[in-house]
Amino acid sequence: MLFFHPQSATTMTRKLFVTTALPYANAAFHIGHMMEYIQADIWVRFQRMQRDGGAAREVHFVGADDTHGTPIMIAAEKEGITPQEFVAKIAAGRAQYLDGFHIAFDNWYSTDSPENVELSQGIYRKLRDAGLIQTKTVDRFFDPVKGMFLADRNIKGECPKCGAKDQYGDNCEVCGAAYQPTDLVNPFSVFTNATPVLKPSEQYFFKLSDKRCYEFLKEWLNTPGRLQPEMVNKVSEWLGEAGEKLADWDISRDAPYFGIPIPDAPGKYFYVWLDAPVGYLASLKNYFGKKGLDYDAFLKDPEAEQIHFIGKDIVSFHLLFWPAMLKFADHPTIERMRVAVHGHLTVNNEKMSKSRGTGISPLRYLNLGMNPEWLRYYIAFKLNSKVEDLDFTGEDFVARVNSDLIGKYVNIASRCAGFIAKKFDGKLATSLSENAQSWIKRALVTADGVERQANIAANFESREFGKALREIMEIADFANQYVDENKPWILAKDESKTAELHDVCTTALILFRQLSILMSPVLPGVAANVAKFLNDEQFDWTQTDVASGVVSSAMLGRTIGAYSHLMTRVDPKMIEDLFDAPAAGAAAGTAPAAAPAVKAEKPAKAKAAPAVAVTETGIEVIAPEISVDDFFKVDLRIAKIVNCEHVEGSDKLLRLTLDAGEGRLRNVFSGIKSMYQPEDLIGKLTVLVANLAPRKMKFGVSEGMVMAASAVDEKTKPGIYILNPWPGAEPGMRIS
Ligand code: 2FM
Ligand code: ZN
Repeated sequence: MLFFHPQSATTMTRKLFVTTALPYANAAFHIGHMMEYIQADIWVRFQRMQRDGGAAREVHFVGADDTHGTPIMIAAEKEGITPQEFVAKIAAGRAQYLDGFHIAFDNWYSTDSPENVELSQGIYRKLRDAGLIQTKTVDRFFDPVKGMFLADRNIKGECPKCGAKDQYGDNCEVCGAAYQPTDLVNPFSVFTNATPVLKPSEQYFFKLSDKRCYEFLKEWLNTPGRLQPEMVNKVSEWLGEAGEKLADWDISRDAPYFGIPIPDAPGKYFYVWLDAPVGYLASLKNYFGKKGLDYDAFLKDPEAEQIHFIGKDIVSFHLLFWPAMLKFADHPTIERMRVAVHGHLTVNNEKMSKSRGTGISPLRYLNLGMNPEWLRYYIAFKLNSKVEDLDFTGEDFVARVNSDLIGKYVNIASRCAGFIAKKFDGKLATSLSENAQSWIKRALVTADGVERQANIAANFESREFGKALREIMEIADFANQYVDENKPWILAKDESKTAELHDVCTTALILFRQLSILMSPVLPGVAANVAKFLNDEQFDWTQTDVASGVVSSAMLGRTIGAYSHLMTRVDPKMIEDLFDAPAAGAAAGTAPAAAPAVKAEKPAKAKAAPAVAVTETGIEVIAPEISVDDFFKVDLRIAKIVNCEHVEGSDKLLRLTLDAGEGRLRNVFSGIKSMYQPEDLIGKLTVLVANLAPRKMKFGVSEGMVMAASAVDEKTKPGIYILNPWPGAEPGMRIS
């Protein structure tokens, strides 16, 4: 079918409606949310860069908070506020995460909205008209003290299998048994501890057992290209041979409930999972309203595609109930709906756990000063189109980011851009030597004659991001090998080689630009800075330097801006802080090392690029220029180490007690344990960053930072060296 094979659809402009699962509005985002949003955002950004017959694709990327249900109602009650106030508070905290990780939804909305009420009730009415709603009276647990029906998770008791106490009403966390809440021994309400009583209640069911649902789902699931094969298999099992395994779905909840009223059913509300996916449409409709776009026309457009990114834990809702709801509510995009399912994020191959110290808070990541694009790259590098878990390990993260992004990618520009500025007034060469052209071609076209950009596009399209990035890194390897073999830093020393130097640096920057274009979906911030530096308005996928095997470049003769450093490497110390106890909020109290003179490892072969960005003279790239005013914002003081001791539980930190002449002492943690015995430091002078905001760490508050130097490559040159002033300096003296 045409819309599942977009590469063949050259004549039409694709129209895409993309969503991620709507998060419950009962808590802040966790790192799993970020992984899903990053995945979808990369895909969306890739789509936005494509041109169909010269026209940009129409892409609508929306999200919303999933607001309804008992847990949110109860949480609001505990805080003494309304559920609406509660979800508004949660909603207000969303932007810092989304902006922080460059996740660019077009709209972020709420399922507690007029659009969602109208759409959910409209869908329900259509299902009812189609004869797919049925009421049945069922016995449900009721809390006689609170006066409300209880969900399975609102009831606890002893496991009927193993006898473990305090188990939820649906399954036992000790022995794993699944059961009905009625099976629990000595059940009690989690709200009041009262013994629940069974009370009959009329419930509304969506008749998923109706043959029509089975007939439809079977065909829908099996449409080639719609779902991942493992999902087709899984859902086929749920359907059974002839739909006999499909059970009716209880879509109603009794008051009191924070939700959408069921039409013509006083006191009954839609179960949250009924209106949650409708929230996708509500957000789209709200967005179209704000933009003056025609929502109804978009839904009816036979070319509009609907793509939901979700995690593997909510597949049944998205691959059984949601498609059946849309189908029998005559929703036109169901035929063009796809669901992209991903696995979970694990840490060291285990489920993340706060108590084991393997939880990663996205805000903590950002507050540590960690670059969001490191995580975007790392996640993308590990993603494929399968429903597989994605494992994060600290060492792997540091190695992957430092090797690929800094050692291979940024390094190309940092080794060449300076010469263009210094020797050629910022102007690139107007033509290229044959050798240069042949390198560009070799970098951008595979040995089999396939233009890599097409491969990379196909891999982004099919969510094989890891494959796309591996191929991009092969281009980077070529570029590094080219720079390495042509040695611009040697050419620069010989006046007679000026033209050659120009040729080499121009070529390297042409390849660097291509890499930046190809990585734009993953590294939008860096790509925007590169576009600015290279005087491109913005990058799109058509800006290719090899088309049909012919080398050409819009860069020739162009004047470019001054290069400023694009990205720093990951400091491995950050990883230790990332996994500290959740309460801790900042990096270890040691200043990042000043840029030391470390010679770049020479990349003998294309694959062995240096692991840090270095200048042509072999030192790590100097940070962007600052004014003297900027410098004076940092208040550096001489401080005396009046006491120093080990920190129990930390193999990196020492606790320093410092006198900076203020008439009080400061407590500062520093990651220098591997280098110094505490007693050797007592009585010594050092340098303190005195006006740094105090930072709460696992072991206490750090009231400043002592300065220390370390090599960029800690593996080959380990060590961290604390600064020590010459004799005569006294505590409290300012350093300038
Ligand atoms: O599992 C969850 O976090 C749900 N709030 C996802 C809802 S997705 C969609 F249906 F809204
Ligand atoms: Zn049990």
